[in-house]
Amino acid sequence: MTQEVIKIRGGQTLEGEVTISGAKNSAVAIIPATLLAQGQVKLDGLPQISDVETLISLLEDLNIKVSLDGKQLEVDTTEIQNAPLPNNKVESLRASYYMMGAMLGRFKKCVIGLPGGCPLGPRPIDQHIKGFKALGAEIDESSETSMKIEAKELHGANIFLDMVSVGATINIMLAAVHAKGQTIIENAAKEPEVVDVANFLNSIGAEIKGAGTSSLKISGVEELHGTEYSVIPDRIEAGTYMCIAAAVGKEISINNIVPKHVEALTMKLKELGADVEVDSDAEKVTIKRQSTYKNVDIKTLVYPGFATDLQQPITPLLFMTDGPSFVTETIYPARFRHVEELKKMGANIEADMTLGTATIKPSKLNGAEVYASDLRAGACLITAGLLAEGITTVYNVKHIYRGYTDIVKNLKTLGADIWTEQI
Ligand code: EPU
Repeated sequence: MTQEVIKIRGGQTLEGEVTISGAKNSAVAIIPATLLAQGQVKLDGLPQISDVETLISLLEDLNIKVSLDGKQLEVDTTEIQNAPLPNNKVESLRASYYMMGAMLGRFKKCVIGLPGGCPLGPRPIDQHIKGFKALGAEIDESSETSMKIEAKELHGANIFLDMVSVGATINIMLAAVHAKGQTIIENAAKEPEVVDVANFLNSIGAEIKGAGTSSLKISGVEELHGTEYSVIPDRIEAGTYMCIAAAVGKEISINNIVPKHVEALTMKLKELGADVEVDSDAEKVTIKRQSTYKNVDIKTLVYPGFATDLQQPITPLLFMTDGPSFVTETIYPARFRHVEELKKMGANIEADMTLGTATIKPSKLNGAEVYASDLRAGACLITAGLLAEGITTVYNVKHIYRGYTDIVKNLKTLGADIWTEQI
């Protein structure tokens, strides 16, 4: 069977503009959320990635009419039917777990495969389940491949999350929009994608207050209606291009960006010594690379801290420094599967996946054959390939296509020597 690989001849200087897509991690929640609407929903600004396609096909499995045209999606739930959702599709992405909350909200019942996604170490969904149970659901986990969730009636509840979880916050919100009475989620996630999903739900008639704070209040409503809604720009895609620009950009402007959403990265790039110009009115950031950077320490945290999803993409920059950098990953301690691949390129990097730490020293990278173990590791390897001398071949690129719209085309437009091959 043939597979696609991405090849990069490193050493080119990139220049120009790139426009960021809608946020993957909003889109993957808002698409399932459309099934709560009675009427037509029009979404705009969707990223063109395989995770979006998979979720749309899950809506079709529920007899929902969908029409996708580039960044726009129309959804009509008039003939919706509850159906068990197949394991193979559900397993191909983590965010399929949002079908649980949405279907529970709409039907009070669902049978669904267990979620897959990037291998970042253990990724339990106990907080989602705790939330569903608090709302009145019973969960049958006796099958090894699927889960049955059912509630006679959904009622409001006070839920305190044991850890800040984006997925649990959104999933509980989806299930609670139709619950009788008020639901309060304490220690809720404050990520911009949570706010985006709450804004979408409010636009179809939900009553959610406090999104963007750690206390969310959801007053259950009987019916939700259609809407037109635009997804926010992807702060992680934007951050990835910011890192690429700081690594190899003569001058790169990144458009359709909300500077506030990438503030932790912007400040870290400035600490490294990068030339970063932020134009909040124009929703644009312009970056010029420097030949060397100061070493820095990075600790991933929940929003507004430094995003775990940018920990891998920023790593190649830490090889351009004049001393060792230290990374602490507090969200997914095992999110270091890029490290062994970077070593194949000559990188001086060591990680401890139990402690969730890595030490990164100045290194000169050479092209090599490397494997993208997960989405953001893939972005890291592409950036490393752009910096390296010689040709880098990135395998397992399906992970990259799950989250980055047209990445090869965008980089080519900026002047990179990058192409795909079927092997
Ligand atoms: N956690 C639990 N139990 C739960 C839920 C989470 O122990 O029930 C733990 C996780 O294992 C992790 C931490 O809590 O250690 C935070 O996980 P969270 O639930 O916030 O992550 P998620 O919702 O599954 C989303 C993004 C990830 C991103 C994280 C953190 C989506 C679809 N995924 O995952 O994005 O890394 O939030 O910001 O929104 C990516 O885009 O590459 C990606 C992996």
